[in-house]
Amino acid sequence: MKIPISKPFFGEEEKKAIQEPLETGWVVQGPKVNEFEGLFAEYTRSSYALATTSCTTALHLALIALDVQPGDEVIIPPFTWVATANVVEMLGAQPVFVDIELDTFNIDVSKIEASITPRTKVIVPVSLFGVSAPMRPIMDIAKKYHLVVVEDDACATGAWYQGHHAGTLADIGCFSFHPRKAITTGEGGMVVTNSTELAEKIRSLRDHGASKSDLARHLGSRSYLLPEFNVVGYNYRMTDFQGAIGAAQMHRLKWILEQRSRIASRYDRELSDLKWLRTPMTPKGYQHGYQSYVCLFRPEEPSLENVERLSNSRNALMDNLESSGIATRPGTHAVHMLGYYKEKYSISPSDFPNAYLADHLTITLPLYAQMSEDEQDYVIERLKSYIPQV
Ligand SMILES: Cc1ncc(COP(=O)(O)O)c(C=O)c1O
Repeated sequence: MKIPISKPFFGEEEKKAIQEPLETGWVVQGPKVNEFEGLFAEYTRSSYALATTSCTTALHLALIALDVQPGDEVIIPPFTWVATANVVEMLGAQPVFVDIELDTFNIDVSKIEASITPRTKVIVPVSLFGVSAPMRPIMDIAKKYHLVVVEDDACATGAWYQGHHAGTLADIGCFSFHPRKAITTGEGGMVVTNSTELAEKIRSLRDHGASKSDLARHLGSRSYLLPEFNVVGYNYRMTDFQGAIGAAQMHRLKWILEQRSRIASRYDRELSDLKWLRTPMTPKGYQHGYQSYVCLFRPEEPSLENVERLSNSRNALMDNLESSGIATRPGTHAVHMLGYYKEKYSISPSDFPNAYLADHLTITLPLYAQMSEDEQDYVIERLKSYIPQV
């Protein structure tokens, strides 16, 4: 049996949806992107949802809209996809890492205040793997120090926190529709915000700095006149093919999330006896979106002293599963240990020990909405019969 780590779910609806732009000829950011944005805003209960080409470009626009400049500092967790840090570097600003909690893999709020300096401008918490970052205390800190918050919600479609969808308590939330996410448009991203001012800035910045979108121009009077261009903008527009697929995916989001949650609960139950594997945690008041099912390989209490040995043992498990046709991955990587960041900021593993441990000891199990019971049984059976060598 071959079991991938993840698989998007498409059906006849997506195939049909993509026909429409082909037939009408409207293929870039137009009515279909508009429809997708409306559905996403409605689902997340946001005032505005603005589609982009990826979560990376959504984050880039968010930081530009908040006027992040060279010399500014932006607080981010080190256990995240490299894009969270790269967008800060792109603007000549400096990412300031704040370690994570090993329980949820999200930023450790108790360590944020000590990292704030007069140059701090933005906090970018990441809602990793489908669990929201602890947004209330983060927003309290931001308020106290007059900072703004951009939530990296690349993995957080379907993640809820105290009755709020991820991204909606922050000033801006940025989502990804890469194929490993709950819903996908191939590549794709979305900005959500409740601020009219930020929404207008981002709307213009993603579209070359235009004061009006092509769709608004075509629907308005004197559509032959070009809009004004008063800021330097980008071309981060989603295509209408992607918008059409995104809208179709939104219609099945509830079902997709139910399946993911059901499969995750089954893993939780079936793997609870494995003392060497800690399954994902969902704190009280949070709803997990299960973008990924990320476990911690923990045959012993992990520390910086034993992590290399335990990591070799985790890799042996991943090898074993791979030879049985089961794909696994680490949760994500520790950005502070990636060449560029490690060298530029002279960082060592012990500066952010939990991120280092998570990088070396996480293992993501296969999970996708259409995963069959037989497929999951096979993964469970292989794990249960495995004895880690440490
Ligand atoms: C936490 C996090 N941030 C940002 C990104 C970048 O998203 P995209 O691939 O849509 O640019 C990812 C992608 O996986 C991610 O996991």
